[in-house]
Amino acid sequence: MTDAARRIGDLREQLRLHNYRYHVLDDPIIADGEYDALFRELQALEAARPELADPASPTQRVGAEPTPQFAEVVHPRPMLSLGNAFNEGELAAWRNRAAGLLERDDFDLVCEPKIDGLAIALTYEAGRLAQAATRGDGSRGEDVTLNVRTIKSVPLALQSPEGAPPRMEVRGEVYFPRDAFRRLNEEREANGEPPFANPRNAAAGSLRQLDPRVTAGRSLAIWVYQLGWAEGAETPPTHYETLEWLRELGFRVNLQEIERFASLEGAAAYCEKWERERDAKNYQTDGVVVKIDRLDYQRHLGFVGREPRWAVARKFPAEQAVTRLTAIGVNVGRTGALNPYAMLDPVQVSGVTVRQATLHNEDDIRRKDVRVGDYVIVERAGEVIPQVVGPVLERRTGDETPFEMPSVCPSCGSPVARDEGAAAHRCVNAACPAQRYERVRHFASRAAMDIEGLGEKLVAQLLGAAIIRDLPDLYDLTKERLAGLERMGEKSAANLAAAIAASKSRSVPAILSGLGVLHVGAETADLLARRFGNVRRLMDAGQEELEAVPGVGPIVAAAIAAHFANAGNRDIVDRLAQAGVEAIDAEPPADAGGTGDLPQSFTGKRFVVTGRMEGFTRSQAEAFIKERGGQVSGSVSKKTNFVVAGEEAGSKRDDAERLGVPIISEEQLTAFAESGEAPDVPIAGALL
Ligand code: IVH
Repeated sequence: MTDAARRIGDLREQLRLHNYRYHVLDDPIIADGEYDALFRELQALEAARPELADPASPTQRVGAEPTPQFAEVVHPRPMLSLGNAFNEGELAAWRNRAAGLLERDDFDLVCEPKIDGLAIALTYEAGRLAQAATRGDGSRGEDVTLNVRTIKSVPLALQSPEGAPPRMEVRGEVYFPRDAFRRLNEEREANGEPPFANPRNAAAGSLRQLDPRVTAGRSLAIWVYQLGWAEGAETPPTHYETLEWLRELGFRVNLQEIERFASLEGAAAYCEKWERERDAKNYQTDGVVVKIDRLDYQRHLGFVGREPRWAVARKFPAEQAVTRLTAIGVNVGRTGALNPYAMLDPVQVSGVTVRQATLHNEDDIRRKDVRVGDYVIVERAGEVIPQVVGPVLERRTGDETPFEMPSVCPSCGSPVARDEGAAAHRCVNAACPAQRYERVRHFASRAAMDIEGLGEKLVAQLLGAAIIRDLPDLYDLTKERLAGLERMGEKSAANLAAAIAASKSRSVPAILSGLGVLHVGAETADLLARRFGNVRRLMDAGQEELEAVPGVGPIVAAAIAAHFANAGNRDIVDRLAQAGVEAIDAEPPADAGGTGDLPQSFTGKRFVVTGRMEGFTRSQAEAFIKERGGQVSGSVSKKTNFVVAGEEAGSKRDDAERLGVPIISEEQLTAFAESGEAPDVPIAGALL
């Protein structure tokens, strides 16, 4: 074995262990930075030695091509559902029935949080993840392996593949952690996209993405709760010990919360405690699953229909309530989007009084057929703004009125436009007071310029009194002028003036986020900042140059280009620069452009990447090209210079042949990068 091969093996082993410590044991033993360094070292070695590629390597979670659709999977053992117990009496009745059938009363119960996500079956062969399937109808599900591979708490290889059964299936629940869900929705709203209603919908939507790269960006997680089946190995005799064994194998099992009880009273107390504490957890639960511990007892009890007799779901009341929708109001967002919301008769939903709930957009209202005057179901989930789930049709009287989106902006009276293909209606007047208010508020927010003390009320006051009209005017606010405002003390005025002055030295990503360009949230702002180094260079970049930034697609590039094509928007940046916001025209750092010392071998060349490669994922290959000055597009045209084709390259390879575009291998691509000499390949189509 060569040194490189040994080091690759060693790094994979180390990273696997650190993943396990972090995701399964929740007890990391190295810092994130050290992990990243090991990860990058492995990536570099693997890129240099494509023949040593391994799909179970920690670097290989993402990067498969989008699939046209999910294949069907037949579950070797059906995935069942659970009967419900809505109170302690029903729980006792369930246990009594089991005791009668077992003809004994001395069995242990295991209590587990019932995770509100999506059931998944993971098949491992020789200790490696071979397949992941959704529950589907219980007998047949969908093959979502490529997406599930991107979930970091799903092991690609088990801790001790030698100790694992040759073939086994585990079952668990994939879910969206609440904190990650909140971040996702914030980002989506910042980008002008509709937020997900709750973590469960977000998890379902993320898992059913045809492009695994989207799933990879979504921070899903798993709790494994059951062994489906195992072949060729002895397995523990009880459920609880099976869970312990699964955790040793490397699966994320919620043992911190799972408890075993000898009595029904213990189990019932556990359920009560969970109901009180469930809001504080980072995952949503809709109950507790109570299971009989001994697996031989489970087998003896068997099933009725699709429900096991050996387990029951002690369900909690939903985080839902019914109330009357008295009116639909419309807010104007910072990009001019008109956001309808429901005004409700106050109602308690899981301990909180709800008076308003979001309705997203007109399509959403139509789809749900929500009318003013309806009784509606309101849901509070994952600590987001409450949602209107839908009307209670049985309670309709006929006096309800359907909602019409206003044709003029409720704030400024300007006409409302609807972007083609988009759900949102928009006020087209950039000077609209409501938009200005949202823009200034967003600019001052912590995620952007972080101007402490410039809160909602003050923004409204400043705009209302025409002391400021837009973002740059903030920098004309002196301590004296602020002190002259109603309800403003000397001290607060001085603090605010200092905070405004301090914001002049915010970073490029902070300014970019603050400008409120459609689709540019924190993550995209970071990518752009790294590439362009200051705001001015970004503002002057064309669509093509923007698209060349790894991670920036055509839609986002077009939105940025359109934003800065607008004279008013350019004027705002100019005035911010004049006011002293430094990073607009700052000297870009030496490494801006993101290319370091890499030779720009691909300058002026257009590539299309297709098929499965050995040393790269597709996004790595695209980044490799872009970092060396090349352009990457999604489809083959006459303008394409090279198609880089891996295994099983499909229609794009055919297109290249038809159009006479040279097809090169991944080795030819790397050789081209190093030598700067374009590979000399016969053009397939030229012979025809
Ligand atoms: S055990 C025979 N344990 O609940 C079914 N299920 O309503 C055994 N679920 O499809 C399921 N957390 O997706 C079990 N700790 C847990 C669970 C759990 C969530 C889900 C699972 C199942 C559904 C049944």
